[in-house]
Amino acid sequence: MNEPIEPTSSPPASAPPAGQPHPHESAHLHVAGEATYVDDLPEPAGTAHAALGLSTQAHARIVAMDFGAVLAAPGVLGVLVAADIPGRNDCGPIVHDDPILAAGEVHYVGQPIFAVIADERDAARRAARLARIDYAPLPARLDPLEAACAGELVLPPMRLMRGDVDAALAAAPHRVEGRWQVGGQEHFYLEGQVALAQPREDGCMQVWCSTQHPSEMQQVVAHCLGIAAHRVVVEMRRMGGGFGGKESQSALFACVAALAAARFRRAIKLRPDRDDDIAITGKRHDFHYDYTVGHDEEGRLLALRVDMVARAGCSADLSGPVATRALCHVDNAYHLPAADLRARLARTHTQSNTAFRGFGGPQGAILAEWVIDGIARTLGRDPLDVRRANFYGGPGRDTTPYGQVVADNVLHALVDELEASSDYRARRAEIAAFNAAAPVLRRGLALTPVKFGISFNLTHLNQAGALVHVYADGSVLVNHGGTEMGQGLHTKVCQVVAAELGIALERVRATATDTSKVANTSATAASTGADLNGQAAAAAARTIRMRLAEFALRRFAEGGEGGQGEDRGDARPGRRPADPAAVRFADGQVYVGAHTIPFAELVGAAYRARVQLWSDGFYATPGLHWDAATLTGHPFHYFAYGAAVSEVVVDTLTGEWRLLRADLLHDAGSSINPAIDRGQVEGAFIQGMGWLTMEELWWNAEGRLMTHAPSTYKIPAAHDCPADLRVRLFHNPNRADTLLRSKAVGEPPLLLGFSVFFALRDAIAAAGDGHSNPPLRAPATPEAILDALDAVRRRPTPDARRPTPDASHLTPDA
Ligand code: MTE
Ligand code: MOS
Repeated sequence: MNEPIEPTSSPPASAPPAGQPHPHESAHLHVAGEATYVDDLPEPAGTAHAALGLSTQAHARIVAMDFGAVLAAPGVLGVLVAADIPGRNDCGPIVHDDPILAAGEVHYVGQPIFAVIADERDAARRAARLARIDYAPLPARLDPLEAACAGELVLPPMRLMRGDVDAALAAAPHRVEGRWQVGGQEHFYLEGQVALAQPREDGCMQVWCSTQHPSEMQQVVAHCLGIAAHRVVVEMRRMGGGFGGKESQSALFACVAALAAARFRRAIKLRPDRDDDIAITGKRHDFHYDYTVGHDEEGRLLALRVDMVARAGCSADLSGPVATRALCHVDNAYHLPAADLRARLARTHTQSNTAFRGFGGPQGAILAEWVIDGIARTLGRDPLDVRRANFYGGPGRDTTPYGQVVADNVLHALVDELEASSDYRARRAEIAAFNAAAPVLRRGLALTPVKFGISFNLTHLNQAGALVHVYADGSVLVNHGGTEMGQGLHTKVCQVVAAELGIALERVRATATDTSKVANTSATAASTGADLNGQAAAAAARTIRMRLAEFALRRFAEGGEGGQGEDRGDARPGRRPADPAAVRFADGQVYVGAHTIPFAELVGAAYRARVQLWSDGFYATPGLHWDAATLTGHPFHYFAYGAAVSEVVVDTLTGEWRLLRADLLHDAGSSINPAIDRGQVEGAFIQGMGWLTMEELWWNAEGRLMTHAPSTYKIPAAHDCPADLRVRLFHNPNRADTLLRSKAVGEPPLLLGFSVFFALRDAIAAAGDGHSNPPLRAPATPEAILDALDAVRRRPTPDARRPTPDASHLTPDA
């Protein structure tokens, strides 16, 4: 069933556009340094630069602001504060609790209070440090558990229930309680947040902004300036990475640049440096779990109760939908006969946490993995066997806690294949032998599965639009609502348009995303970019193809190659109207019965015959429904699956470790572009590994994030990739009617990184007596690994305890 992916040299020009490993549409520009990002755009004459002044207090009232020294500094044109905002001082995506510039109070260290505008970027940054802000400190809450305990939540608690959990727990042969936590994660996009705004005539504003959500940037800029959306145009050619961090949080930068541009009547660029970017913007939510699980002798789950507390930070941002996705992924690959899943979003005086690849899904799913891994260790069974015993499948075992039937499950076959291809059992035995003999090093192995729901939970976001232009020379330009952040969306969209028109990929280009071309777009998020925008673009191309087909039929029905009378139609008496669908478009040619005509020639003739050669296209994912009150419905069009096996070696003296080998098998459906999908799988795996093992956010007692630069915040580097990395796509044409039967691939493989964490836990367990259940927290930094090693050597209670002293306030009824 599975197709190994060949190392990808570019396919020949004659290769069909779709399904082939074509290079990224900008690869040649990326490697040559010629791809333009927002900061590379030529600056309009007179462009000035903004720098933000940030709060030094976690929670305080602003008593006084003195900008005398700022205004006297060289090159400074002026200062803007909240009171200068003509419209609404808010850039929150859902709940309107996110001031652009702090008004009266500050809510975290790093919150922007004012903007300095100067003729040079450096001058603006230097001057920003000269402001004198007097604060009256207020009590700051930095711990999400304390905040949740005190009822400090950004949104009401959420609860997803299925079956009678109390009864199922009471009847379960085994009951385990535990506490655990996973850390947050900084996006660390290579290109930071940046916006350039230029006033246009008649009160209009043009904004270039590194964002996953141009339409929302248009809206927030319009609200901030107090003008209608039709006066604001947002353009985005490409991002140097977004990972969710530019879904909502690009707003502040777009708004400040636009505000300053409107005020000073000139182009303004705002590009914070890395430290400020990290200090200002929200991250992946850290999650804290308190759970009770009931299981049988086989380790099969009978009931699960979880109370999750996530750090929302100082405002709601996207925390609501993140918590919803977490709740919808607590099951991961496993059937939960009874479940009581709760989530609370703690309001803390820290950055407002936001979308990050997986959007809460990883934080939900890893809890199931933690619980099952613990059960297996307690029972002394191989965790893979206990995972398998819990997979969805079999009578009465196919419905998620939120009520959607898992109709496309391929995990049994996928995991069988990976278990065999990775030599899981033989390596398990080898590792046991190694560990029995090694004095210091311990190896560990783990296989973890992924099931990930595709679609926005909020049904109305599952829509997209596109515009396709066929020019008279037969070349094609596509514009759609999705944004390019390196994930290859434009490449895939161009591929499907080329396939639809039967022309070579090089004949199709994608333009920058532009709110004046396609309106009311959704964020490029939830991995739906290609699913939604590809369908819309394909629909537009199909409309043009049908027009061309009808034209070709008319033309050849006339029998003329001479271009006369093409547009008289085929309604001559006695003629059977021919079927335009029978006209074939392939290899750059159009086949009309016995005639063949090059695509470009047909297009030229159609133009002269006044056939419309451009079209819009629209797509709305069918069959979705979601009840946000009960957290039930059919929120996902389909599921994407995958699994990974990781093997690590841990130095038990230092807590250092290496990933020796990883085998990844991921379901991208019938891949539109196996090279790009492979890149997504690899990148997501490594990013997931980074989240769970080395990336650590650390705030000091005053609430200042101290890990705000590469010197203090460690992301995986090339050196952290395993020498032996085996990545394959599991060939599995989507059962849902998606584009060429492909599947979304942007986020799901992030969860493959779980295998590294559980391999570490396996190695640590091997340092005890093998049955111990290491209380390893995430991220599993060397310190965390040493703590866990200490614990297993002291043989603690069978289930893990959260290492912090007091978590009793986590109890659900608090
Ligand atoms: N890949 C790259 N190279 N850069 C990114 O910023 N973002 C991820 C993923 N892959 C990202 C990426 C996230 S968070 C999402 S939601 C998807 O891409 C969005 O794009 P898609 O819907 O087109 O897959
Ligand atoms: Mo991705 S977190 O949905 O931008």
